[in-house]
Amino acid sequence: MSMTAEQFFANLWQDYIQRTPSAAKVHAVLGQGGEIINDHVAFRTFNLDPVRLEVLARHFEAMGYFENGDYFFEQKKLRAKHYEHSNPELPKIFLSELLVEEFSEELQEFVKDIVGQIPVNALQSPEFLYSGTHWELDYSRYEKLLAESEYAAWVGAFGFCANHFTVSVNALHDYDTLQAVNQQLKDAGFTLNTSGGEIKGSPTVFLEQSSTMADQIEVVFQDRTAVIPSCFYEFARRYPLPHGGLYTGFVAASADKIFESTNAKR
Ligand code: NI
Repeated sequence: MSMTAEQFFANLWQDYIQRTPSAAKVHAVLGQGGEIINDHVAFRTFNLDPVRLEVLARHFEAMGYFENGDYFFEQKKLRAKHYEHSNPELPKIFLSELLVEEFSEELQEFVKDIVGQIPVNALQSPEFLYSGTHWELDYSRYEKLLAESEYAAWVGAFGFCANHFTVSVNALHDYDTLQAVNQQLKDAGFTLNTSGGEIKGSPTVFLEQSSTMADQIEVVFQDRTAVIPSCFYEFARRYPLPHGGLYTGFVAASADKIFESTNAKR
């Protein structure tokens, strides 16, 4: 029997909060114990078989999701697509992948090696999307990856899991603006990502986004443990399109800055 979307997201959330202890606090601050609707959930991967974006997307397509936008990030050497579901209560999916061939031979060899260690059967279940790493990583390798790509280092350290969940500000009862959400978060002690400004986007592009900086957690590497950035929480407010209905896409210039929420250097 296949997993329902509701069960999948419940499992994904449980996995996410283990790596993102502040997520529960975000819910307490913004939702006051009530339910929070998530605008989207984001995943990261490499553009190599068998974990390419379109292969991972099949799990969402099997849950009834459809592709509805693609994005390119020249400087970070990434591409992405977003997926939507006809049920508006289900989060959109933002799925990105690193263009591995754009990096050094050393990085390419390493990524090929770790991806090659994933058991082929593991890919067949949606549980793969929160299965973490399938390889060993030593800390010096993590630092080498970090020097070339924050994104590559993050996937190397955490593998397959939700990179962030995103609160739908439109669905919050007590907040009318993203500015008010940000102020509440700062008052509660959260550090926001200020790359490109606290608020990325504007009503003109029909989407405003902000995010916390990622939690710092202890990760066990092959040779030592180290405290590194894990996952973060994002906040999105969508605006109605001229012909009606909220904009459902993403804005590449804003997403480019949101990626920096997991930066190790601040
Ligand atoms: Ni996002």
